[in-house]
Amino acid sequence: MENKIKIRVCVGTYCYVYGGNELKEIKDKLPSALKDKVYVEASVCLGCDAKGVVPKPPYVEIDGHLIPEANTEKIISYLMEITK
Ligand code: FES
Repeated sequence: MENKIKIRVCVGTYCYVYGGNELKEIKDKLPSALKDKVYVEASVCLGCDAKGVVPKPPYVEIDGHLIPEANTEKIISYLMEITK
């Protein structure tokens, strides 16, 4: 798993109901060039419950970078950005 990009998909209650559940399968939707470069894990709340934060679920964290309102397109586009 070393050198792989770590994708953490929040499956905390809030994110789960807003699509985190489907995003757990994100690896299956990635282009093959990206698929081998990542590993995916489910995570508990990534911080949407912090005071003063307006939650925008579902959240996904990619190597420490938090993506709100995550979807397949946003995840692929960020991965392309950091791997080019
Ligand atoms: S439940 Fe997902 S970030 Fe809080």
